[in-house]
Amino acid sequence: MQVLIDTINKTLQNATAREVLEYFLKRYNKKVSLSSSFGAEDQVLADLMLSIDKKAHIFTLDTGRLHPETYDVMDATNLKYNIKVDVYFPETQSVQELYQTQGINGHYESVEKRKNCCFIRKIEPLQRALADVDVWVTGLRSEQSVTRTQMPLVEYDENFNVIKVNPLIHWSEEDVWDYIKKHHVPYNKLHDLGFPSIGCAPCTRAVKEGEDVRSGRWWWENPEHKECGLHKQ
Ligand code: ADX
Ligand code: SF4
Repeated sequence: MQVLIDTINKTLQNATAREVLEYFLKRYNKKVSLSSSFGAEDQVLADLMLSIDKKAHIFTLDTGRLHPETYDVMDATNLKYNIKVDVYFPETQSVQELYQTQGINGHYESVEKRKNCCFIRKIEPLQRALADVDVWVTGLRSEQSVTRTQMPLVEYDENFNVIKVNPLIHWSEEDVWDYIKKHHVPYNKLHDLGFPSIGCAPCTRAVKEGEDVRSGRWWWENPEHKECGLHKQ
């Protein structure tokens, strides 16, 4: 598998994000899926993918703790592209047990409790979402965090057993916003209120001008802990 990944990375080293998506959509067709949190990067990717293939597959993980603004952009996206993004919810029983064992906001108490919550609300649903997928498309950018600087364009993700593709890995924040404005892509209104990176409501806050883009995510933890397990480090 690593030989294949190395070859693809080499083939696509100078490709644009559109060319990267075309490459995978052509070869893996119905087994390519974009995971979207409806953040700015994912909106760019949705627009690109759907302009290549109107039936391209997109899914989201609804943790049950999202901001109202995130549902607004989900709705606007479905309307604009005439699609229904697939939604994966956490298992009811696991959420009930989580609440019984660590309360509704236990994630603030320790990294362990926070990771329990992320596992139940995001990772387990992601395992289900990717069960039948060969190529997982994400909106990761290397600039976003210290944990992401070394991420390649294409990698094999052994946790989820898929080829993982990050077409915007070398894009700057400016590139993302230029695309959104130019193509009139719907975006989460929280971005206008100082939220560069948007996750669950209790674990995301606005950042000040010049602060790290992910400093508003799990802001009470150290930067090296700031991954929820969706993306290996
Ligand atoms: S996270 O791991 O810290 O939550 P981040 O918000 O930076 O990730 O998003 C990185 C990528 O992970 C997104 O571009 C998207 O592909 C995926 N992702 C994050 N959250 C979700 C979600 N709720 N549903 C689907 N995909 C998501
Ligand atoms: Fe739970 Fe926060 Fe993780 Fe969302 S980001 S799943 S609320 S700990």
